[in-house]
Amino acid sequence: MPIELAPSILSANFANLAADAQQALDGGGTVLHVDVMDGHFVPNITIGPPVVKWLRKFIKAPLDCHLMIENPDLFIPEFAEVGADWISVHQEACVHLDRTLHLIASHNCKPGVVINPATPVETLTEVLDMSVNPGFGGQKFITNSLNKIAALARLRAERKLHFRIEVDGGVDLDTVGDVVKAGAELLVAGNAVFGHGDIRTNAAQLLEVARAATLTRA
Ligand code: DX5
Ligand code: ZN
Repeated sequence: MPIELAPSILSANFANLAADAQQALDGGGTVLHVDVMDGHFVPNITIGPPVVKWLRKFIKAPLDCHLMIENPDLFIPEFAEVGADWISVHQEACVHLDRTLHLIASHNCKPGVVINPATPVETLTEVLDMSVNPGFGGQKFITNSLNKIAALARLRAERKLHFRIEVDGGVDLDTVGDVVKAGAELLVAGNAVFGHGDIRTNAAQLLEVARAATLTRA
């Protein structure tokens, strides 16, 4: 599966959002990662459907909406309506996860599941993986996530499944190689893309290192 970079707008300049996001996409990002936080499921508040609606008008790339909220079922229809392409929910926030995934699919969005660091990877068969505690950008990558990525990649191979493994949090030039070697192909990066220097160059460099790492995969 091809390596893809999903720049996370959490670290972008929100007063210049569409332009910053576009620069990250010009640098090679192919999906825009949008972090939605409610101040309850995670100790931070970000954005909701109105921002997704405006991004949709300016951004052609798929919008990957990561819902870090309680009761995501209540908001899935609205995120789909305003233009989300992918919607991921937290396993920990969903009492009826299977039903929630079907709800997302019924709105013609691609469903994904995210797990917190303390959640065993075995709870999932079709997943996203979280490599920091959700809620903030710029955190340190939790090294044990590499074992979880590898476990998912093994499970995928054994069962001949085709889900993609997305890693969100702490992905930067120092960690991306190991993340790719462990088996991930969808790389979310906020701080490493938007946090310093030239956004476009940052995205391009990250992708270059990620793609180089595929050559040394076991
Ligand atoms: C954190 C968010 C991430 C965040 C990643 O809860 O889900 O998408 O933006 O940020 P970095 O790449 O800065 O660790
Ligand atoms: Zn995220």
